Amino acid sequence: MRAAFHEKPGPPDVLQVGELPDPKPGARDVLIRVRASSLDRVDIYYREGSHGVTRCPLCPPHVGGRDIAGEVVAIGAEVDTFPVGARVVSSSFHAHAELAVAPAALTFPLPPNCSFAEGGAIPTAGRTAFAALMNQARIKAGEDVLIFAAGSGVGSFAIQIARAAGCRVIATAGSADKLERARDLGAECAINHYTEDVAVRVAEVTNGRGVDVVIDHVGTPVWKAAMLSLAPWGRFVTAGVTAGHRVDLHLGQVFVKGTQIMGVGRPDEAEMAEAMAGLLRLIERRQVRPVVHVTFPLEAIAEAHRLMERSDFFGKIVLTV
Ligand SMILES: NC(=O)c1ccc[n+]([C@@H]2O[C@H](COP(=O)([O-])OP(=O)(O)OC[C@H]3O[C@@H](n4cnc5c(N)ncnc54)[C@H](OP(=O)(O)O)[C@@H]3O)[C@@H](O)[C@H]2O)c1
Repeated sequence: MRAAFHEKPGPPDVLQVGELPDPKPGARDVLIRVRASSLDRVDIYYREGSHGVTRCPLCPPHVGGRDIAGEVVAIGAEVDTFPVGARVVSSSFHAHAELAVAPAALTFPLPPNCSFAEGGAIPTAGRTAFAALMNQARIKAGEDVLIFAAGSGVGSFAIQIARAAGCRVIATAGSADKLERARDLGAECAINHYTEDVAVRVAEVTNGRGVDVVIDHVGTPVWKAAMLSLAPWGRFVTAGVTAGHRVDLHLGQVFVKGTQIMGVGRPDEAEMAEAMAGLLRLIERRQVRPVVHVTFPLEAIAEAHRLMERSDFFGKIVLTV
């Protein structure tokens, strides 16, 4: 099969597109002809060998990509949920290729109102935003939610999911264009996280009370503003550490305000499947739509990585195969 891969860490130039052996599905897997996938920030980390994700020197070439939209071409012996030919969306690994194996438990019918490109934008970012807001923070209608980095894959889903749940959204981003896009998606207030004091602006907007929930995946640079922005009994959910994983945690402030600090990741398949199913329902009801910034053919994988590194996009960078 044709695949995008790298054999040693480095800049985008280490990425190649070529032939690799076809993957084989296990008993509980499906084999999917990938039509679209997308880039997640973790693809950059794998390529760089940063953020604790490194490829062992003896490992086979690393094929990035966790998001799959395509057609089922074969099923494992214990799978009876999908016929061959079904159009599906799935959360797995090694998706930047013509063929990918995915657990049947994390594979769902592609919503009829989604193209393959939109489907390929959904799984990792969308599932993470849904799990952070609905499973961890357990947001309720009428609550105020602060979402850092609105232009990210996770942020672009989180704004819409929080709005669909009846929350008021305050979002941050790093440029005027992204702030406008955040407002278009439903943020009532949009704050530049490089040029404005986020905590002061949040205090203004909430009449000094602060927000009920903060969703973050930036890490170190926004930690202080996140903690200062939380109302009493506030919930903080971390989904990533793009710009640093070390923070200065003041335990006194945590207990005095009754703050809850939670994480969201890939704890188990059942939780991931539940989050995917919940998100897909919102997409089918048109309450949430994947935001596709741009589509590249698989052959332009290095260009797609460079765009993600520049952070000059809003939503998801999609690869078509
Ligand atoms: N827990 C999980 O299972 C899970 C799943 C998906 C993603 N993640 C993690 O979540 C993070 C986001 O992933 P993604 O794919 O959505 O990323 P992405 O689309 O590449 O977005 C990254 C965002 O980070 C913002 N950013 C970078 N440096 C910043 C800084 N110093 N201050 C404020 N914002 C900054 C950028 O905003 P501006 O350019 O506007 O500043 C950009 O919008 C990654 O760390 C990823 O590994 C975790």
